[in-house]
Amino acid sequence: MSGTAEPAPPTPQGGITPEGRITTPEGPRGLSFEEIQGDPELSSFISAADRVMEGMGYTEHGFRHANLTARIAYNVLIRSGHDEHTANLGCAAGYLHDVGNMLTRDAHGQTGGLLVYHALRDRMPSQDLSTIVAAIANHEEDQGYSVSEVSAAVILADKSDVHRSRVRKTGRPEFDIHDRVNFAAEQSFLRVDSTAKTITLELTIDPQISQVMEYFEIFLGRMQLCRMAADALGCRFKLLINDAELA
Ligand SMILES: [Fe+2]
Ligand SMILES: [Fe+2]
Repeated sequence: MSGTAEPAPPTPQGGITPEGRITTPEGPRGLSFEEIQGDPELSSFISAADRVMEGMGYTEHGFRHANLTARIAYNVLIRSGHDEHTANLGCAAGYLHDVGNMLTRDAHGQTGGLLVYHALRDRMPSQDLSTIVAAIANHEEDQGYSVSEVSAAVILADKSDVHRSRVRKTGRPEFDIHDRVNFAAEQSFLRVDSTAKTITLELTIDPQISQVMEYFEIFLGRMQLCRMAADALGCRFKLLINDAELA
C-alpha cells in the first residue's frame, strides 16, 4: 500500500483546567488535588503508612506531613518559574510520597510509586502519572535522584519538614538523634528567591536540645540530595541554621 497518509486529527491534550482538575485526552476524567485528598483508598494508604512509622518509632509521617510536603512542592515549582500543571503534579506527588511506608520503611519510595500507580492508573493521563510515580520513587537520599522538576520539588519539600511537632515521644530520655534534631527545630522554612535563583532551607534550632553537628550527622545525605534538587530547578541550595549560612 502506498500513498500519503491523511494527517491525524489533532489530539486534545490533557492538562489542568482553571479549577485545578487534571484532564485526560479522552474526556473529563481526572483528579483535582481535593479529589486526591478525599480519595478513601489513598487516605487509607497514608493512615496505614503512619501507623507503620509509629510502630517503628519514627517521627510523624501522616496527613500533616503529606499536606505540608504537597503545599511546599507546589510553591517551590510556582516560585521557580514552572507552570500550574507541573506545580499540580508536584502537589500530588508530594502528598503521596510516603505511602510506601504502609509496607515497610525499606524501599518505601519504590513501593509507594507502585501503590500510587495501581490506585490511579485509570484516573490520570499516563504521562502525568509516570511523572508522579517517578518523583515518589526517587525522594529518599539512599536511592533517589532528581529525575524531573517535579521530583526535585518533592525532595526539597520533604527534606525541609523538620519540626518538633513531628516527634511523637513525650518522654525526653527516650529521644534518639532523629527525635532530638526534629524536636530542636523550632522553625523551618524553605525560601525560594526567584531573582537570586536560590532555594534556602532556614532552620531555627534550640542548641540546648541538639547541637548543629548532630543535625549534620543525620542530614548530610539529605542536604546533598537537596543541592542536586535545587540544581535541577536552576537554583543554588543554601542552608541557614540560626542565621548562620552553613552550605
Ligand atoms: Fe520518605
Ligand atoms: Fe517524607
